[in-house]
Amino acid sequence: MASPDAATPEAKVWIDGELVAADTAKLSHLTHTFHYGLGAFEGIRSYKLTQGGSGVFRLKEHIERLFASCHLVTITPEQIGYTVAQVSQACVDTLKANNLDAGYLRPVIFLGAGAMGIGATTNPVRTMVAAWEWGAYLGDEGLTQGIDACVSSYSRPGHASTLSKGKLTGQYINSILAKREALTNGFAEAILLNESGLVTEASGENLFMVQNGVVVTPPLGMNILAGITRATVMQLARERGIAVEERAFARDELYLADEVFMTGTAAEVTPVRSIDRRRIGGGSRGPITAQLQAAYFAAVKGEDPAHGDWLATYAV
Ligand SMILES: Cc1ncc(COP(=O)(O)O)c(C=O)c1O
Repeated sequence: MASPDAATPEAKVWIDGELVAADTAKLSHLTHTFHYGLGAFEGIRSYKLTQGGSGVFRLKEHIERLFASCHLVTITPEQIGYTVAQVSQACVDTLKANNLDAGYLRPVIFLGAGAMGIGATTNPVRTMVAAWEWGAYLGDEGLTQGIDACVSSYSRPGHASTLSKGKLTGQYINSILAKREALTNGFAEAILLNESGLVTEASGENLFMVQNGVVVTPPLGMNILAGITRATVMQLARERGIAVEERAFARDELYLADEVFMTGTAAEVTPVRSIDRRRIGGGSRGPITAQLQAAYFAAVKGEDPAHGDWLATYAV
């Protein structure tokens, strides 16, 4: 997908408590995170609601995960200087300032300019929130027809070297390389194994398969991000009487699955129609994927009365 309008001069960005024109939000070339990658971020979507107005989907959970990511890398709430509620409000304010009744939010907490050593602890901790319009991350056709994925030659780094429960800026180098390799080879997305050959997740999505009517996904004890869409879809499945199992599996089970799909804020619920050129199930969106996708889109648009509390509503 093309670059967002977040970079246009008329865009507004929230930075350290102030909404400013994007072209005046300059960062120092000595921004610590720019050099070394220690920082945390989130990806959040807001949707137009069917009954009118707009809603940010699971905003509190995303900002709580942002603070949890910071905790993992020893950035304290005192250093951040804003509460979860204040950063959540900054997200809504940024959407409004950009006149976005639906959009993608990108809060980032990072280390600013100051000392340049890797061990520096005194640099200012800065908070930024950008927002832009973003369509289907893996394409509109992907949502209906399914995407072609591959198993990556890159593995997901192990527990001893990364903090996979954190959405941390520097950790995305591995995802970018896996995604670039997939695109170069004609696939839409990359599936990463762990160092023992077990399936973990995709470059920016969690992964599910369906076997004999049971929805199966790798457990949180593996090196995967605890996806908020993952948790949402598991809950929606259970509420519909669909069994959900969290267990480890290797790529052969994926190839043989009846259905495979990916979940993520950006990718929403995207079916996978082939992996490594092997057709999955019928080679198109399967019935359980379709049911869960419909349930997810109903929830984000405010059409699911049981889950109105998942939406932080606002109007532009
Ligand atoms: C590596 C990775 N896994 C999974 C996900 C899905 O997480 P969520 O559903 O919270 O967006 C993301 C996106 O944030 C991600 O970057």
